[in-house]
Amino acid sequence: MPRAIAFAPPPIDQDVVDAVTRVLHSGWITTGPEVAAFERELEEFTGGAAAVCGNSWTAMAELALRWYGVGPGDEVIVPAYTYCATANIVVHLGATPVMVDSAGAGFNTDWPTIQRAITPRTKVIIPVDFAGHPVDRRALAEGLNAPETRSLFCPATPAQEALGRPLWLADAAHALGAEQEGRRVGSWADVAGFSFHAVKNLTTAEGGALLLNLPGMDNRAVAAELKTLGLHGQNRDAAAKFKSGAWRYDVITPGYKCNLSDIHAAMGRVQLGKYDKHLAMRAALADRYDQQLANLHGASLPERGEASNARSADHLYPLRIPAEMADRRDELIEHLRSKEIASNVHFQPLPLLSAYGQLGYKSEDYPRAMAAFSREISLPLHTQMSIEDVDRVAEEVYAFLQLKP
Ligand SMILES: Cc1ncc(COP(=O)(O)O)c(C=O)c1O
Repeated sequence: MPRAIAFAPPPIDQDVVDAVTRVLHSGWITTGPEVAAFERELEEFTGGAAAVCGNSWTAMAELALRWYGVGPGDEVIVPAYTYCATANIVVHLGATPVMVDSAGAGFNTDWPTIQRAITPRTKVIIPVDFAGHPVDRRALAEGLNAPETRSLFCPATPAQEALGRPLWLADAAHALGAEQEGRRVGSWADVAGFSFHAVKNLTTAEGGALLLNLPGMDNRAVAAELKTLGLHGQNRDAAAKFKSGAWRYDVITPGYKCNLSDIHAAMGRVQLGKYDKHLAMRAALADRYDQQLANLHGASLPERGEASNARSADHLYPLRIPAEMADRRDELIEHLRSKEIASNVHFQPLPLLSAYGQLGYKSEDYPRAMAAFSREISLPLHTQMSIEDVDRVAEEVYAFLQLKP
């Protein structure tokens, strides 16, 4: 039997272990110099103006909504085709997630779909770069800044006044390193959120970062504000307080607790140093899937950004099997498992989840998302795979579907 192919094992090598060990022995293990260095390196890597790290995409994106003053009566546009976190943060704030469908036959939503859902109550839009494939940012940037979008907007807080339109919070949880027109996605949106969760391309076990590019604002100052908000509202962090004699601090707002530790940041820094190489490996594997599966009659290969001069971070390889085979997807997953190949399904559109069904969202209102989901299977794609592994997975997909070209 050939070796087992896991779904998304973390890229933990000896360098990561050494970096963590160094921090463990350093005398300082929570937020401190490693986090600060990781933030500067993320800015450099993404081109974003200011980075702020935290313990997850979810906690940090929620902080961004709080900072923007989102609350009851406000609407936040989210795609139906996403992970629950994108909408959960909106519900936490008492605001209303306004769900939009996928665009075309693919997974992502797009600007025209979002635009149709914008009302005077819309405070934030959260497009999702599913699988690392970027939503067309040129169209989003132009649409959001158009006079007809601005004139609909009803600001209610100083930050909303300053921006003068809905906040663009990119759910780039999957998309670290993706780019459009040669610019990394962390430099496009007002706020781009990345996840460093255990299965992501770059992982700190749990973790996340916001990259800020708020036009006309002091992004470093906003990052500092978010950092304070994510650490109880304390005006000095633990590392500063720890310095001998510097015990005094104030709490300027009853804040939250979602800082990243230096141990986690050290894991991220090592991987970021190798990330361009990892992206190239992922792209080569995804290209190989594209080649090998091109003749799978009736299947749809993922749109990886080509149409908008973009490049994916290739977090997932979401194949859509032929529609007439959709009801055999679980059998395919089982067939692959029997060959020691792990696969997965991403995502159940939110209306299918009990929590959102109970809130009144109906799957029939999102026919494109439902159609894409019914045929989706995520094939393994990670830096511990070889081109031969991809060939083996593709061969098993053909064998099961009995569609050998
Ligand atoms: C699209 C998307 N958004 C947000 C998240 C949440 O990320 P985190 O686990 O870092 O909070 C995930 C995690 O899987 C995700 O897939």
